[in-house]
Amino acid sequence: MVSLREFFLDDLLKFNCIVMDPYTEVYSLSFFFNILLKFPQLSHTAVSPGGQLIGFILGKIDSNESVESNIENGHICALSVSDNYRRLGLATRLMESFTDTVESHGAWYMDLYARERNKAAIKLYESLGFVKYRWLPNFYRDDNGYDMRKPLKCDVGKQSLKGSWFDRFVLWWVDNMN
Ligand SMILES: CC(C)(COP(=O)(O)OP(=O)(O)OC[C@H]1O[C@@H](n2cnc3c(N)ncnc32)[C@H](O)[C@@H]1OP(=O)(O)O)[C@@H](O)C(=O)NCCC(=O)NCCS
Repeated sequence: MVSLREFFLDDLLKFNCIVMDPYTEVYSLSFFFNILLKFPQLSHTAVSPGGQLIGFILGKIDSNESVESNIENGHICALSVSDNYRRLGLATRLMESFTDTVESHGAWYMDLYARERNKAAIKLYESLGFVKYRWLPNFYRDDNGYDMRKPLKCDVGKQSLKGSWFDRFVLWWVDNMN
């Protein structure tokens, strides 16, 4: 059976087969180190019965100090599942464990960025309750992106989804023109 466990620093030496996917976000080693040391409870790996690393999620907590109170949100930096283990619910399990942790931390919402072309990931996130919050033209070197959000229990009035009218109009325009 596939098991989930915390992402350890030495897993960085074992996940080449997963991060080579063109849709997987790759960061510098210092970025990975920083996130794993600061938020060790937020990043997890999926491990096969044979002990092989077959998926991971890397996340952090961000603070939004531009509003009256100090609202925190969980941010997913990267999520990936090995080719041979896709469509088995692994990404869903990794996302659910991340959600439980940030929710117990008192975060208001979760967010992430996805490539416009990455239909599989967008479908996954929508199946988990994320919505497209903003369209981000040329966010990636070779693609546009979406900022996607999911309000959590703390955000009773779904304030985190109330973007500007301009962002809502652009989203509507992009969805209807594609
Ligand atoms: C996107 C990704 C993480 C999905 O992982 P996964 O373990 O296969 O996802 P799950 O099995 O939990 O899928 C849950 C649901 O997401 C949707 N989904 C996942 N992959 C899909 C695909 N290729 N096409 C269409 N829908 C898909 C489906 O609704 C699926 O439910 P179903 O299998 O009952 O139809 C995986 O394809 C991957 O690692 N891709 C490369 C890296 C990447 O894109 N990361 C996200 C960057 S934003």
